[in-house]
Amino acid sequence: MTRFLPDEQATMTLASEVYRALPRDRAGWTILLTGELGAGKSTFARALIKAAGHSGSVPSPTYTLVEPYKLPSGNIYHIDLYRVSSEDELYYLGFDELDDGLCLVEWPDRAPRLAEAADLLVELRYEGSARHATLTGRSARGHALTQKIN
Ligand SMILES: Nc1ncnc2c1ncn2[C@@H]1O[C@H](COP(=O)(O)OP(=O)(O)OP(=O)(O)O)[C@@H](O)[C@H]1O
Ligand SMILES: [Mg+2]
Repeated sequence: MTRFLPDEQATMTLASEVYRALPRDRAGWTILLTGELGAGKSTFARALIKAAGHSGSVPSPTYTLVEPYKLPSGNIYHIDLYRVSSEDELYYLGFDELDDGLCLVEWPDRAPRLAEAADLLVELRYEGSARHATLTGRSARGHALTQKIN
């Protein structure tokens, strides 16, 4: 599934559509967000976290690696692996314990094993000053989700 995203609002709308296409129980779901610096990965994650009912700020997890959101609608973990050089760091930090929520992962190429277990890949590309998104299912349920969005 692909979509032209003319502005930031379009990126946010797509994120809330993805949120609404997810099942009620999102524990163990992993969504990968790829794209160059400034492509809109955090914009997408922030909009999805807000669609899930979070009303406060959504700080960048660049330094903390993971920002957890314990929401009435379920847990969301916003993860940014930009600063991770070895995947082993993650397991040392307890990343294998984030399976009780939905994981949104920026820069997933830093952690191939984590990326392998993903359900959905959201690729954001620059198209002039706008963006273009490609959504690809990485699991059967992720593939089914992409078919609900057009
Ligand atoms: N569809 C769009 N068209 C134009 N601008 C957009 C679009 N979506 C988001 N933006 C803008 O692009 C920027 C994206 O920044 P954001 O922090 O989300 O990128 P990022 O991919 O997370 O970057 P980083 O790799 O540094 O984490 C923001 O300024 C946002 O307003
Ligand atoms: Mg970001």
